[in-house]
Amino acid sequence: MLTALAVAALVCGGYATEQVIFKDVAIIGGGASGSYAAVRIREDFGKSVALIEKKDRLVRTPSHCSVIARLAASSLVGLTCIFAQGGHVDSFVDPETNTPLDFGVKSFIDEGNATGFFDRLGIKRKHGANIRLNTTYVDFSTGKVLGFTPPPMAAQMDALKKYLEIVEPWEHLIQPGYFDFPDRDAIPHDFLIPFGEFVTAHGLEEAVPFIYQVTGLGLGNITNELTLFVLQTFTVAMTRSVLGLQDAFIPESGRNQDVYDAVAGLLGSDVFYSSTVFDALRTRHGVKLAIKNTDSGHVTVIKAKRLLIAIEPTAENTGPFHLDAEERETFSKFRYTRRYAGIIKSDMLAVNASYFNLPPNAAPKNYLSYPEVPYDARIDYMGTGKYFRVNVIGDKDLEPDSAKELVRRDIQTLMDAGVVRAGEGAEAEVDWADFSDHGPMYAHVSGQEVEAGFIQNLYGLQGRLSTWWTGAAWSVHYQTALWKFDDILIPKLLSGL
Ligand SMILES: Cc1cc2nc3c(=O)[nH]c(=O)nc-3n(C[C@H](O)[C@H](O)[C@H](O)COP(=O)(O)OP(=O)(O)OC[C@H]3O[C@@H](n4cnc5c(N)ncnc54)[C@H](O)[C@@H]3O)c2cc1C
Ligand SMILES: *[C@@H]1O[C@H](CO)[C@@H](O)[C@H](O)[C@H]1NC(C)=O
Ligand SMILES: *[C@@H]1O[C@H](CO)[C@@H](O)[C@H](O)[C@H]1NC(C)=O
Ligand SMILES: *[C@@H]1O[C@H](CO)[C@@H](O)[C@H](O)[C@H]1NC(C)=O
Ligand SMILES: *[C@@H]1O[C@H](CO)[C@@H](O)[C@H](O)[C@H]1NC(C)=O
Repeated sequence: MLTALAVAALVCGGYATEQVIFKDVAIIGGGASGSYAAVRIREDFGKSVALIEKKDRLVRTPSHCSVIARLAASSLVGLTCIFAQGGHVDSFVDPETNTPLDFGVKSFIDEGNATGFFDRLGIKRKHGANIRLNTTYVDFSTGKVLGFTPPPMAAQMDALKKYLEIVEPWEHLIQPGYFDFPDRDAIPHDFLIPFGEFVTAHGLEEAVPFIYQVTGLGLGNITNELTLFVLQTFTVAMTRSVLGLQDAFIPESGRNQDVYDAVAGLLGSDVFYSSTVFDALRTRHGVKLAIKNTDSGHVTVIKAKRLLIAIEPTAENTGPFHLDAEERETFSKFRYTRRYAGIIKSDMLAVNASYFNLPPNAAPKNYLSYPEVPYDARIDYMGTGKYFRVNVIGDKDLEPDSAKELVRRDIQTLMDAGVVRAGEGAEAEVDWADFSDHGPMYAHVSGQEVEAGFIQNLYGLQGRLSTWWTGAAWSVHYQTALWKFDDILIPKLLSGL
């Protein structure tokens, strides 16, 4: 690995074969927050950008995808039609019917100027349809079907209304970012207690199954997690959207990746695909980044006046940026869960079924008991063919193969217990139509850290060494909230340029 000095040598002394480019802003990570920022900074503020995205250039159209699917089918090669940009969007297209099946991001909440962003990309909107599923609650560790009854839908909605009344006054403190997060003495007490206690204190039990099943499950057993971070996984905007008080939409095509494909088309050669930073020099006056294309091995040096990092600030991700002691110390406090989503093709699982994993003590109606990581939260029919969506959540070390094995083992358990149809002694084989590693997510810290000023320290890092930060760890895990967060951040980042 090159040292920072060697990069300086590269930039100044020059290896003839290497390319040096100059930009106003270098952006790392072409997901929800990075790609939105790149468009706005270039198009609305007239500054030049380079967007560095580690995944390869696979911004394919559905028809390309089905051509590849046909080729794959004829050569017995498993098909994975993955689209690279756009972070957590996973748009699989059923090769037989050309139906787009989104198994990552489901929809866009109408926050900030989200509709304006769709419009500028020329993407028409529609409302997504919900598939009616027949849910069976099962303890995946034994295959035992549980006599669990969720609250009637009307009761769930009433409880969510009550939840909204409690959390809405706090919205400006935490969403879309922590810009106005209160000092120690003014932090609402509820933020710092486990979510289970918060729920019990306010009588919100009947809201919890909904919160867990939609997004809470990504955080783990939410009963034990800090209320603050559960509020961040199920935001106030999300609550309003569920209650019909705020709109949510998807592209008219039904394929969420269209949004990021359009961004890719607009940004053109300002995006560096299959590229990661392997060394960096950051100063108060600007940054120099050495990036490498993992396919070609080609090295490019980017000199930029500002750096915007739009990836999770894990040790692995931030390594090449040579964090200073304060940055390192702050980020080291984050804890993550790691998330995988996939589509499996199965003859045995029932059409229209949802197999929902709960611990035995959830029955008959304990709305505060959820599995501990790692777990496969639910297996849901996707509305067409024999496709089912799976969702695996683990601790930060859960590897992709282990996540897949967990799904296989769970299905074997469901077969052995007779929950799903199978011949005597049948072995579970999982046919993965697609699989996506969402990496470490839901950065969170302990209540003591929050009280000790973690959030203020985190935000204090903005602008240090010409470096600015966006993405879910600084905000929440919703694309359009991240776009709104970017809208607040960008003028600060560009100030003085
Ligand atoms: C299964 C699932 C379903 C979801 N459903 C919804 C939903 O319905 N609606 C919604 O609004 N949100 C949803 N989300 C959340 C939303 O997708 C995320 O909150 C959002 O994508 C986070 O944006 P980000 O910019 O922080 O990171 P990301 O979108 O993850 O972007 C990070 C990008 O950086 C790239 N990258 C990573 N490391 C590097 C590196 N070292 N160098 C260069 N590039 C790198 C990645 O490939 C990625 O493209 C869902 C998430 C998941 C996992
Ligand atoms: C919203 O986005 C559109 C399209 O880019 C733009 O014309 C409009 O000015 C934006 N509105 C606001 C309030 O930023
Ligand atoms: C729902 O699933 C159960 C098994 O889990 C099954 O017995 C029942 O027939 C299904 N109902 C419908 C309407 O498909
Ligand atoms: C699945 O649900 C759809 C829509 O409700 C219905 O039309 C279809 O008959 C169901 N299929 C089975 C096998 O139950
Ligand atoms: C999740 O936490 C709750 C509350 O502490 C507990 O009752 C439940 O058993 C936990 N789940 C598991 C699988 O341990």
